[in-house]
Amino acid sequence: MAPSVAEIVPVTIDSDTSVDDVTLLKKHSLDKSSVVSAELKMGDGPLFPLYYPHFDNTEKFPPTEIFEHVDAGSRADPAKPHLLANATTEDLTPYIGTEIKGVQISQLNQEGLDELALYAAERKVLVFRDQDFKDLGPDRQVEIAKHFGPIQLHPTLGNVKGYREFHVVYHDGQHSRFEEYGGSNRLSKIQWHPDVTYEKQPPCTTFFFSLEQPSNTGGDTLFASQVEAYNRLSPGFQQRLEGLRAVHSAVHQADFSRKRNGPVRREPVETSHPVVRKHPVTGEKALFVNPGFTRYIEGYKQEESDSLLKFLFDHIARGADFQIRATYKPNTVVVGDNRVTVHPATNDFPSKVRRHAVRPTPQGEIPIPA
Ligand SMILES: [Fe+2]
Repeated sequence: MAPSVAEIVPVTIDSDTSVDDVTLLKKHSLDKSSVVSAELKMGDGPLFPLYYPHFDNTEKFPPTEIFEHVDAGSRADPAKPHLLANATTEDLTPYIGTEIKGVQISQLNQEGLDELALYAAERKVLVFRDQDFKDLGPDRQVEIAKHFGPIQLHPTLGNVKGYREFHVVYHDGQHSRFEEYGGSNRLSKIQWHPDVTYEKQPPCTTFFFSLEQPSNTGGDTLFASQVEAYNRLSPGFQQRLEGLRAVHSAVHQADFSRKRNGPVRREPVETSHPVVRKHPVTGEKALFVNPGFTRYIEGYKQEESDSLLKFLFDHIARGADFQIRATYKPNTVVVGDNRVTVHPATNDFPSKVRRHAVRPTPQGEIPIPA
């Protein structure tokens, strides 16, 4: 039985409220600017309390600065000897997803990490089993993730106290992130998105590691290949899209957090990105629009923009033949290339079950227009 949070340490909740902690806040009547400690009265606590989502409304980040990105995958040996010499791999589908056993990410040298970036770009998503990653400690986890780029500091969602580089995904009987973020009056909570595409330099090779997962089944992450979504379009349609740019916005996310007295650590940005981007290493073209953050096509009348985006969003969501379900077992780490994939979480497990996962999110290049 897991020790309760109260048995481990009084959990500090910093003036929060957010996607994950609305109920908790209501319970403790936290003031917007206060910093308080509280014991969680929710029975067994999380197995990894260090990574409990942390919100501090006084935390502020400066605007994200532009940096030069050299992709780790560009340095990789295409044969991937440092990554795959002792590995067994199984492709989950032809277009996307490979499950890997026999490799310990924590043991990879620089060349191995470069090859991991290339392999993730080629296969879109890598599901590593039997990893020691969650037990490495935050310093080492951040060090590994930084190999791929500077880590994005999330402007609104829960991070880890003392480690702003982590975005925490947390759900238990008292915190239903699905209902709080997506609303309760919906048939489905599925929302396809890559992470934080409003950034001028959106994420590249991203890590998602599970700390606690519904036992047996549930809580998978769906992924779709934005490369294959693009490839399915007819040549004339592809050509038409290639000149276009779309605006991705952080405003909705910030408004959502403000409404719940949550943090807005950085003022929300809106960024123009190409509708079709080219991967800097593989050269593959990929759709780069998503219903999570893409708001409109530049230069189009609203109805034109709405209609085109709806078509593309539906096309991606319907593409069951270029999607996977990444399943989680204890010690699974999922590595995805955020430039060429979209994903949603699935809300198919009992509401009382805890799901706790962490994501360090390295940022990549300014998207290259196709
Ligand atoms: Fe996500």
